Amino acid sequence: MTDCLALSKSAIARASGLLADGQLVAFPTETVYGLGADATNDRAVARIFAAKDRPAFNPLISHVTSASAAFDLGVETPIAALLASAFWPGPLTLVLDRRPDCPVARLTTAGLDKIAVRVPAHAAAQALMTHFGKPVAAPSANPSGRISPSTADHVMRGLAGKIDLILDGGPCESGLESTVVDASTDQALILRPGGITRNAMADALKAAGFADPIADPTAVTQPVQPVAPGQLASHYAPRAAVRLNATKAAADEELIGFGSVAGSGRLALSLSASGDLIEAAANLFAMLHRADDTGTAKIAIAPVPDHGLGEAINDRLRRAAAPRR
Ligand code: TXA
Ligand code: MG
Repeated sequence: MTDCLALSKSAIARASGLLADGQLVAFPTETVYGLGADATNDRAVARIFAAKDRPAFNPLISHVTSASAAFDLGVETPIAALLASAFWPGPLTLVLDRRPDCPVARLTTAGLDKIAVRVPAHAAAQALMTHFGKPVAAPSANPSGRISPSTADHVMRGLAGKIDLILDGGPCESGLESTVVDASTDQALILRPGGITRNAMADALKAAGFADPIADPTAVTQPVQPVAPGQLASHYAPRAAVRLNATKAAADEELIGFGSVAGSGRLALSLSASGDLIEAAANLFAMLHRADDTGTAKIAIAPVPDHGLGEAINDRLRRAAAPRR
């Protein structure tokens, strides 16, 4: 059952309680409705991908109430600080290096060492995040491949029965998603055009003394619009070689199990001993990192069925196992 509540103090409290409980809450922002979950909870974030029926794990934006909260998660650069003071709260997402102590779940950032952060301007989003007190992971609240929702009714039509609550704050102001900018270096790189224009950013940065502030996308290796996360040049791949569909580990392998195939090796990890795909998705990136961190040269992974979230898990595993460039 998906409830829809008009904005009120009690609705915010209820929404915040559901987030704390690992549930999914759609909420309005000034751009589009977001499908929110506790960004620090891998399992809650896995439910976002299941609800959207996403065939791959696209990294998600972590929403917070202030620039200082954002820079607790990602490393503040001079460019990021300037863009934050010029455009936050507002339709701008900054991609930064994940801080080593960043509490955000690995699945939220799809295993990447970069994190996308945004401070939305919408009063309901702010109220929800303030009450909740932790970062909120949220993609647009639409089924995968459909257009982004700008009313609670759009969300209901797309996701009824798959999410727990919709906070109805009326129509979104813009309907256009945030501009996504990699601000982790000394030049801003626009990854997705959106609510804040290239010129507005260039003007703000130049006024602050940055000489050549916006990167020429043809001069960098990342695609301009990373429509799929696997197309990101920086997408995380384990250092170790990866072998798929393994039912038994070789002596030198760290085997990550699933279902009836038990994990073995130093850590003997299992994505989900009970064969639960949501649990497996929640564990995927964290376990790949942990297995890699043992220093093993080889990681083997048990077969994962290809239905439901298994499709996204297998997409990611195939990329992890693909020959390295
Ligand atoms: O306006 C918006 O941005 C809305 C509201 C809800 O905030 N959210 C939204 O999220 O549009 P989504 O998931 O539909 O799009 C997020 C974009 C994707 O293109 C994703 O690849 C990119 O941000 N992104 C997220 N994390 C990233 C990362 N660590 N590195 C590079 N790109 C990232
Ligand atoms: Mg979207």
